[in-house]
Amino acid sequence: MELSLKAGQPSSIKTGCLVIGLFEGNKLTATGSEIDAASGNALSRLIKRGDIEGKPCQTLLLQGLDGVAAERILLVGLGKQDKFDPLVFRKAMTRATQVLGELGAADACFAIDDLAGKSLDPYWAARHTAEAVNFALYRYETTKSEKAKPRKLKRVGLLQCGSGAPRGSGAPHRDYNKSFALGLKHGNAVSNGMNLARELANLPGNICTPTYLANQAKALAKAYPKLKVKILEEADMKRLGMGSLLSVSRGSRQPAKLIVMEWMGGKKGDKPHALVGKGLTFDTGGISLKPGPGMDEMKFDMCGSASVFGTMRAVVELGLKVNCVGVVPSSENMPDGDASKPGDIVTTMAGLTVEVLNTDAEGRLILCDALTYTERTYKPKTVIDIATLTGAVVIALGSHATGLMSNDDKLADSLYALGQQTGDRVWRLPLWDDYKEQLKSNFADMANIGGREAGTITAAIFLSRFTEKMRWAHLDIAGTAYKSGTEKGALGRPVSLLTQYLIEQA
Ligand code: BES
Ligand code: MN
Ligand code: ZN
Repeated sequence: MELSLKAGQPSSIKTGCLVIGLFEGNKLTATGSEIDAASGNALSRLIKRGDIEGKPCQTLLLQGLDGVAAERILLVGLGKQDKFDPLVFRKAMTRATQVLGELGAADACFAIDDLAGKSLDPYWAARHTAEAVNFALYRYETTKSEKAKPRKLKRVGLLQCGSGAPRGSGAPHRDYNKSFALGLKHGNAVSNGMNLARELANLPGNICTPTYLANQAKALAKAYPKLKVKILEEADMKRLGMGSLLSVSRGSRQPAKLIVMEWMGGKKGDKPHALVGKGLTFDTGGISLKPGPGMDEMKFDMCGSASVFGTMRAVVELGLKVNCVGVVPSSENMPDGDASKPGDIVTTMAGLTVEVLNTDAEGRLILCDALTYTERTYKPKTVIDIATLTGAVVIALGSHATGLMSNDDKLADSLYALGQQTGDRVWRLPLWDDYKEQLKSNFADMANIGGREAGTITAAIFLSRFTEKMRWAHLDIAGTAYKSGTEKGALGRPVSLLTQYLIEQA
């Protein structure tokens, strides 16, 4: 659902439900105060009764107030004012949307543009709200025959009343309004990208195959002709010497694909930024077979590639003035009479030989050839790979932060900062040479696993051997890309972070 911009006074907006924030300690935002005044202090009287304190994500639904045009008002808690940050805000907006989704109202309006100066500028207020609303409204239904009841909520607006803009400046609210509107535009595009990423990742492995992903890229190019798409087949990979990538797909009936998407919206001749996403459409582990319980979740092993598709979609929709390419090595990892075996030695496109000690460490095997291809074809300004690469990162960081590793401090610092801004957080782990030892092999240039210790780092060390000539960052999203359990499903991370990175480069 695209959110639209609305202008007017909070109290006179005609809407099914007006959402306003409340800080802990009954501190109404500027919008809330305007409504309070218009309703003869009805709001503060209700709040005084103690039905809501403003704790993060607390909500209270009020029916129409005299003097206020909205049919309902939804108060949502924003927590302590001095602890307010983008993530608290985002969660509160998500919660508010969940409540809206259960109401009979056909339209709603968020009056949140008054939080500026309280560590959230108008751009981010609009951007986070758009992303949160769309996030909360996404439902997976594609492979269900019983569809959920259609939602009554059809339209959501963002109210721009400028109540948070700095007062007394000569030309009131102009930049303020501009950045609020831009935040909304970017938020809508990022949301479309996130929902594409979630949809692709939620599809089962028997539908979302490497060929399916390749067709998705073609469909994207059809919808946006300025996006160029190239699909490399197994024969092409063989010709290029991608022995490592091909060794992973050997055991599968589904042919591997190397999907390349080019967006040259920037200066002609400028080297592009590259995104390389792991597109393992199902990871059984291969001959080093994974245990049964929870193996279905390995359909999510293409979440890195899903985030590349989602980001490309957002970039193209926004028509960003930037050159960027998305590269997706896509394959299944299956056990089979022809599958790779532990101890097999493969030759990568870069020429390094690898002893495959564990066929379940396949992500690095498809990524290394894709990284070499990216380096040789594009000489990119920067390259970021995104992969559900290791279970170890889930142990290290849980589901809150994506693991970040990089050979470039500036790139790493900027990704860290953008993670804080977008709420799509990353945390850096080291890539010291000391770890290289762990990948030593008696029979090849290196092994594809490095033992139990520091599994996330040794996986990245493996990749680093193929990115020495590039400014490179690696994002291990095994803990952040999807949820397990009753709410099992893809989350669309880190589309917001990656899109923001490219917005900054444009
Ligand atoms: N796709 C998995 C990593 C993974 C694990 C993602 C759990 C999401 C949740 C990857 O291909 C893998 O199997 N990695 C192994 C590496 C090991 C064999 C060195 C792992 O993490 O166990
Ligand atoms: Mn694996
Ligand atoms: Zn995998």
